[in-house]
Amino acid sequence: MTVLLSVQHISKGFPGVQALRDVSFDIEAGTVHAVMGENGAGKSTLMLVIAGALRPDAGQLLLDGTPLVLSGTRDAAQKGIAIVYQELMLAPNLTVAENVFLGVEPRAGGVLVDRATQRARTAATLARMGVSIDPDQRLGDLPIAQQQLIEICKSLVHEPRLLILDEPTSSLSEADALVLFRVVHDLKAHGVTVLYISHRMREVFENCDTVTVLRDGQHVRTLRLAETDQDEVVRLMVGRDLAGVQRVRPSADPRPVRLSVRGIGDGNRYRDISFDVHAGEIVALAGLVGAGRSETVMGIFGAPPPLHGTIAVEGKPVRIRRPADAMRLGIGLVPEDRKQLGLVLGMGVRANLSLSALGLGRISRGGFVRPAAEAGMVNSYVDRFRIRTPSVEQLVGLLSGGNQQKVVLAKWLATEPRMLIVDEPTRGVDVGTKAEIYGLMRDLARGGLAILVISSDLPEVLTVSDRILVMRSGMLAGELSFDEASEERIMALAALEHIGTDAAAGG
Ligand SMILES: Nc1ncnc2c1ncn2[C@@H]1O[C@H](COP(=O)(O)OP(=O)(O)OP(=O)(O)O)[C@@H](O)[C@H]1O
Ligand SMILES: [Mg+2]
Repeated sequence: MTVLLSVQHISKGFPGVQALRDVSFDIEAGTVHAVMGENGAGKSTLMLVIAGALRPDAGQLLLDGTPLVLSGTRDAAQKGIAIVYQELMLAPNLTVAENVFLGVEPRAGGVLVDRATQRARTAATLARMGVSIDPDQRLGDLPIAQQQLIEICKSLVHEPRLLILDEPTSSLSEADALVLFRVVHDLKAHGVTVLYISHRMREVFENCDTVTVLRDGQHVRTLRLAETDQDEVVRLMVGRDLAGVQRVRPSADPRPVRLSVRGIGDGNRYRDISFDVHAGEIVALAGLVGAGRSETVMGIFGAPPPLHGTIAVEGKPVRIRRPADAMRLGIGLVPEDRKQLGLVLGMGVRANLSLSALGLGRISRGGFVRPAAEAGMVNSYVDRFRIRTPSVEQLVGLLSGGNQQKVVLAKWLATEPRMLIVDEPTRGVDVGTKAEIYGLMRDLARGGLAILVISSDLPEVLTVSDRILVMRSGMLAGELSFDEASEERIMALAALEHIGTDAAAGG
């Protein structure tokens, strides 16, 4: 075996957090090497060190056996190391080609941006990736899955030897992720080494050769995936055995309808959608990314309201013009993009959690926050979700991706809604915490909360939901009861162009 990159005794600390402690392992050339670990284990920090974005406090990297000193990400790119960050870093208002060359524009005569070259090289790289996306298209008009591919295209134009992908599939459906894996396998066939971070066990076992497990900033093991199994990897990650979450048959008792939508649509991205959600019920909205699920629930939440159709809450017709109206009616929404509607990154964990709970009277009286009640509420969520933070005052923007997700979820639960809509609740969340979130959703439902959950993770959909609605191309394609539900049936409804409901039910 040839070692491409050797990580030796790397340590990195932040105020209040030792993110990496003395991490050492080798990355074999031409392999797809997974890095796994719980939220906050240090994965992204390690990747930022390797990509030249963070300087380690101690330790060194060897590339082809020679010490590698990086002055920054540009230096790393020149030395053949490229990274696709955990969060999309693209400019929605620029074109695909402009995004790909952002900051590294080819210049004609040293001054003007050479648009023709930019466009041609983008087109060539996309073609090599086997995806057909127009380089002149405005980036913001592309679905997330394609934007993710543009991020990869951006890192490939410099022909890296080592490509780092930090949770590239967390916002993709399994079908969309397949396109990405085709690209990964093709790169590997051309000798590129890939460092791959993911919380999705199955995709790691299906697509990677080796896995390095980190726990609490320390290296636990590096092992060949062919010589291990999922249970062992989970055990190495969390330091104990983890019981899988079982499906639970929904109760057959009649329950009142909490939310009822009839014929809602924006005339474009979602059309003629009708369904009910009962108190105490968890209904999943499944479908491919881009099927219109997020648009539908944002519509219900009044952001913006649908152009057609009616909505009733607890049997009474309502008009929801903006999110504040929805919240007054007891509807909470945990959005897909945690930065948009979810979190104030520049504020602390405590402030984020109490902000939305303020109106409730539980932690405030006469407009004044009651500090003891607030601290109790905040601490209980930090414990329950195992939010990993040096203190409750830590800025949310400095937490690891998965921990930010837990804060968003906790934040909306703190508003004590009667109906909760969650869009990709466990995006980027580690296996142990996922199980806790599912348990919590069940407890809440048992307490009478109605939950509508969007998820692209099929095992997740099957595990948590009592009933499944499947959307395809902006329309409801069908409904599956608890007993009918299976991954195959969901996919059949979500992906097929033309399918009669009979065929779906029989398939
Ligand atoms: N810039 C920063 N300032 C302060 N703390 C930070 C910073 N970046 C990361 N941390 C902390 O370092 C620890 C490791 O974070 P890191 O982002 O590497 O975790 P991760 O393994 O990628 O987790 P996830 O699966 O949630 O993405 C966390 O406790 C995180 O809050
Ligand atoms: Mg991370």
